[in-house]
Amino acid sequence: MEQPGPIAVFDSGYGGLTVLNKIRQHLPQYDYIYLGDNARTPYGTRSFEVVYEYTLEAVKKLFDMGAHLVILACNTASAKALRNIQQKDLPLIDSNRRVLGVIRPSIEVVDELSDSKHVGVLGTVGTVQSESYPIEINKLFPNIKVSQEACPMWVPLVENNESFKDGADYFVKQHIDGLLSMDKAIDTIILGCTHYPLLMDKIRQYLPGHIQLVEQGDIVGESLKDYLKRHPEMDDKCSKGSSVHFYTTEQVMKFKQTAGIFFEGELTVEHVVL
Ligand code: DGL
Repeated sequence: MEQPGPIAVFDSGYGGLTVLNKIRQHLPQYDYIYLGDNARTPYGTRSFEVVYEYTLEAVKKLFDMGAHLVILACNTASAKALRNIQQKDLPLIDSNRRVLGVIRPSIEVVDELSDSKHVGVLGTVGTVQSESYPIEINKLFPNIKVSQEACPMWVPLVENNESFKDGADYFVKQHIDGLLSMDKAIDTIILGCTHYPLLMDKIRQYLPGHIQLVEQGDIVGESLKDYLKRHPEMDDKCSKGSSVHFYTTEQVMKFKQTAGIFFEGELTVEHVVL
């Protein structure tokens, strides 16, 4: 059998650390590597072709580092690159390796959560334009009406450590109002971007109390746990030493400083070139 390797978590930048944290809470026994393409972030404003090219480079790198299973924590990469990678690239690279995204697990829960069957999605411009959420939700639940709002200022607010400050209120309210004005019956909103949990307090402040928020970290953690249970052959290929190592395409010092917003504890970080 092939040598077991760490579970890899990929994001365009720092936001995926929110997902990694939650995955580790659900599955603490595994080894993890995290790759942030911080030198080329954000992906949310980039074209389909570029997001696909960057994401594929990252996936290949993570396979080279020994991972058999890669989680695309980035919604934009999940929306724009995952399908191609799964269908076109994996059979050529190694059909025994797996790449999973965050969109599918997030939408599987909405039918149960929503009474009105009117669901909202907040995401980057790229995720919203890809229409991945409405398409995937309606494949499973054709009766659900989906409205989407792109929030281009939210990622920069978080990346610049402005998410807790007063200036953030304006942009949070603007997009919450924008989404709710599209459909007054929305009772469930998916936070379809790695960074948005960091704005949670402010988002809740501007939301009517009856609206539920779907935060991805826990859902992805649960879903991965279930996946590994259903796929013992993959579970055997995931090493279990409870370690976590970080890789960035940016400078190590810069990564360490900003990653502190998302992740508690000392980080072991290395620079990589994709
Ligand atoms: N990680 C991206 C996502 O979840 C947000 C940051 C970016 O635009 O690169 O969509």
